[in-house]
Amino acid sequence: MRGKTNLIKIIKIPEIFDDCCLYFAQTKDHIPFSIKRVYYITKAVTKYPRGFHAHYKNRQVLFCIQGNLEMVLDNGKRKEKIILNKPNEGLLIDRLIWHEMHGFKKDTILLVLSSAVFDPKDYIRDYQKFLKIANGKKAS
Ligand code: TYD
Repeated sequence: MRGKTNLIKIIKIPEIFDDCCLYFAQTKDHIPFSIKRVYYITKAVTKYPRGFHAHYKNRQVLFCIQGNLEMVLDNGKRKEKIILNKPNEGLLIDRLIWHEMHGFKKDTILLVLSSAVFDPKDYIRDYQKFLKIANGKKAS
């Protein structure tokens, strides 16, 4: 895993070039959790950012397998941004990291590997509540 800071953690996965480009990611070697769910986002529109939440428990690795978008990560103390545009680079989003996805270029495909099955109760969608939880204060 390579990372500019503690907040941005990039996982590089193997790429095999023959008559195509083939990428693979597997638990333990590349993904630091058992993969329980896979989802992907297509046809996102540049003017509509997505995300704006954190998870209590779920951990995710995001791969921009086509196109380009900007991720904003926030741990309640500081924010960092990174452009995702390389299919061999996954961004780890750990527990209690507020994340936003901005500026989806046309035809971007975002593939997400998740440590848990979908659970709406695992979402924190209120930013003020997130700040309290992330900074160790009791959220009402
Ligand atoms: P959400 O996670 O808020 O999307 P984003 O982070 O891209 O803004 O999910 C959008 C909607 O899709 C929301 O109603 C929940 C639903 N959803 C599922 O039902 N299952 C899933 O695995 C995911 C990721 C979302």
